[in-house]
Amino acid sequence: MTDHVRVALEAGVLTLTLARPEKKNALTNAMYDVLVREMNRAEDDPTVRVLLFQGDGDVFTAGNDIGDFAAAASGAAAGRELGASPFLGALAKATKPYVAAVQGRAVGVGTTMLLHCDVVIVAEDAQLTTPFVNLALVPEAASSWLLPARIGHARAFAMFALGEAMDGKTAAAIGLATAAVPASEVRARAMQIARALAAKPIGALQATKRLMRDAEAIMAVMQREGEEFRKRLKSPEAMEAFRAFTERRPPDFSKVA
Ligand code: COA
Repeated sequence: MTDHVRVALEAGVLTLTLARPEKKNALTNAMYDVLVREMNRAEDDPTVRVLLFQGDGDVFTAGNDIGDFAAAASGAAAGRELGASPFLGALAKATKPYVAAVQGRAVGVGTTMLLHCDVVIVAEDAQLTTPFVNLALVPEAASSWLLPARIGHARAFAMFALGEAMDGKTAAAIGLATAAVPASEVRARAMQIARALAAKPIGALQATKRLMRDAEAIMAVMQREGEEFRKRLKSPEAMEAFRAFTERRPPDFSKVA
């Protein structure tokens, strides 16, 4: 287990805080383990009425830890391929309301997980990015379906393939986020809404969330994406992308197939 995720339950709100600011809250396998444990607990524990994600420091999260990607790709992860997989499964199956408080950057799964949150409060200057193709990977978390459905193919493709960032104000204006507020107010606003949700009748809330999402279709898309993702992860182009990140240089894809 890890202390890079802080867990707090107060007044029906289970807050999961990504607490690895020195690494921009990049998500390790150990962090996913805690998140999944708590997301499962939220489903089973009647004292949990709402789940709130937030991140310490100047970013929400830099996405999956690239070192863990590289380890999974090279087979060095001791039988453990992708720590994110159970996390994505838990997102798909969630029935309790999810709230997210997003400041700074939300990279990769940091943005795609927001597609599974019911309330997303972003900082006006937040930067949402899904640079999967830059890493020689493909979209995950059913985002290949959910993101174009939410914001249209053209904008989604620019985010996936060109790595274009979407700022918080735009995200709120086009329905990717609930509201954009000054960065200093993000956490307080998200908590205020989480508390308001915690006071609602939970049965009706869960039924509403279930009706609004096709969990089975989401899981089917995740399955398809996962197969492609695992294939790409082991490709020479992905190895080059991971090496380039570690060596702090731009990747050179001209010599890899
Ligand atoms: N995995 C592993 N380590 C990461 C990381 C990631 N996804 N993102 C950041 N870090 C680490 C850096 O390696 C650095 O570690 P070091 O201090 O030991 O060298 C530390 O976090 C700080 O990151 P740095 O790049 O110096 O901060 P920055 O403010 O200049 O840039 C980001 C922040 C998020 C723009 C940049 O770190 C980045 O692009 N990260 C990768 C994002 C990514 O591609 N994620 C996967 C998406 S699928």
